[in-house]
Amino acid sequence: MTALRPPSLAGKVAIVAGAGTSGRAGDATGNGTAAALAFAEAGAEVVCVDISEAAARSAADRIRKAGGSAMAYTADISDTTRIAELMRVVDQTFGRLDILHNNVRVVNSDTLAAFDEDRFKRTFEVNVQGTALCCHHALPLMKRSGGGAIINVTAVAGSRAYENLFSYSVTNAAVEQMTRVIAREAIADAVRCNAISLGIIEAPVAMDVYTALLGDVDQARARLQAYAPGGQLGSVWDGARLAVFLASDAGKYINAAVLPVDAGARAFC
Ligand SMILES: NC(=O)c1ccc[n+]([C@@H]2O[C@H](COP(=O)([O-])OP(=O)(O)OC[C@H]3O[C@@H](n4cnc5c(N)ncnc54)[C@H](O)[C@@H]3O)[C@@H](O)[C@H]2O)c1
Repeated sequence: MTALRPPSLAGKVAIVAGAGTSGRAGDATGNGTAAALAFAEAGAEVVCVDISEAAARSAADRIRKAGGSAMAYTADISDTTRIAELMRVVDQTFGRLDILHNNVRVVNSDTLAAFDEDRFKRTFEVNVQGTALCCHHALPLMKRSGGGAIINVTAVAGSRAYENLFSYSVTNAAVEQMTRVIAREAIADAVRCNAISLGIIEAPVAMDVYTALLGDVDQARARLQAYAPGGQLGSVWDGARLAVFLASDAGKYINAAVLPVDAGARAFC
């Protein structure tokens, strides 16, 4: 009776890129922190990577306080030298790498009409090139570890056209296609690559944006609900649960997939 055991990541090493919560320390839980906590709860050793040192430390501290194993590493994912160094540190510390969870995505409110070259370049540099760099530097170590799982977090805006999300939409779409291309190339090394496309999630970053805009948390929630199918907001744990499944052996026959966690937004909004 093994088929229905909960997914386990015991003995595995995971990197979560963007493991902090929107650059904040403390107890707020964004999608990256939720994934890091969930990987640790499933038994993985977790390397919490974030551009904010405080946020990386805070995520690793929370894992340790909850009884898990974690280390913090500060890096901008678009900095190839730091990401190459990250893989050396992981190799020296753990001798293996099994999971790479790419949660970082710059979000802008922009349009083609008001195209800003510098903003577009930076968004592309982080969202697309940074994700590619993390995968590029992780692959040799995953190969030496006997295989692995890459999970790219994307957004429903990567497949549907929303107003005022030009660079975010375009770069999320690029990451979804990158997922399929990497899966094809890495299958020879037993590395799977999938994407989780999130819908309207009640995450601190989204709530902050709308609370600042509308002046009140309840109004912010109501605005988000208006965008969500059936008015249902997702929680950060909805994506984290799927990430654990995809990273584990339970997901071993799932590859090159873009899996929506969006209450149906992709299909019927
Ligand atoms: N929040 C939502 O409602 C929502 C909806 C759809 C998709 N998503 C996806 O979820 C992911 C983000 O989740 P979140 O919104 O909860 O944010 P989050 O709270 O998980 O924060 C992301 C972290 O990434 C870090 N970061 C930013 N730029 C970085 C860089 N260049 N290098 C390293 N770290 C960097 C930030 O400091 C922050 O701590 C993204 O992939 C986004 O597209 C979120």
